[in-house]
Amino acid sequence: MENWAGHVSRRLKEADSTNKQARLWAREGAPHGAIVIAGRQTAGRGRLGRAWASEGGMGLWLSIIIRPQVPIASYPLLSFAMALAAADACAALSGGEIYIKWPNDLLLCGRKIVGILAEMEGTAAIVGVGVNLRQQAEDFPPELRETAGSLRMLTGRDVPPDALERALLDGLERRVDAWDFMDEYRARCSTVGAQVRVIEQETTWDGLATGVDADGVLLVRDDAGTVRRVLAGDVSIRKV
Ligand code: BTN
Repeated sequence: MENWAGHVSRRLKEADSTNKQARLWAREGAPHGAIVIAGRQTAGRGRLGRAWASEGGMGLWLSIIIRPQVPIASYPLLSFAMALAAADACAALSGGEIYIKWPNDLLLCGRKIVGILAEMEGTAAIVGVGVNLRQQAEDFPPELRETAGSLRMLTGRDVPPDALERALLDGLERRVDAWDFMDEYRARCSTVGAQVRVIEQETTWDGLATGVDADGVLLVRDDAGTVRRVLAGDVSIRKV
């Protein structure tokens, strides 16, 4: 099938959350590859229950509905395909060197420029991506000013959202069709090989990230030499 990603779209001036709107549409039978894009989000959602700042004209806020031809247990891998697609698109259009931080944050100059939130709605997957395009530090909420960035702030380039959208969807489509992207992900993920701090709900511990398994689980060797499996839904990771 060709060019399924984005062949149908709902383009909204404003949405509470494009992920939420995509879930509702998926429930009503939205086709494989349908996208929801909003100029601004009033209740943008991030991973681990966090909010995602999404002011008007500042970024690309998009969610795609995917009905993959793979078992449901493999759906979480879609967020890794999106990370690769977004990294390529951002690098190509901004000229910046983009790093993928496990599981699917994209960093530029050590600042987060892209976040990805994958969810399920029945048998559909909803993959939301937020790309910070135009913010300056003061445009972010105070608690994010040291850690968040945008392509313009960090590369000086004004990346057109429609070109970024097309590049990103093409890269996603290619990877989802081939369904063979985890080696590419491992090679591109800057967390692999790094000393990390794993912040779980109750505890925090340090170790060496040694790899990512076929399910996208991060493998971290702790100080006692035990390789522990770290699941994306539960933790945040810092390099130490
Ligand atoms: C993260 O916490 O890193 C994930 C952020 C995901 C943000 C995007 S913006 C488009 C889509 N709609 C949402 O409400 N969230 C995602």
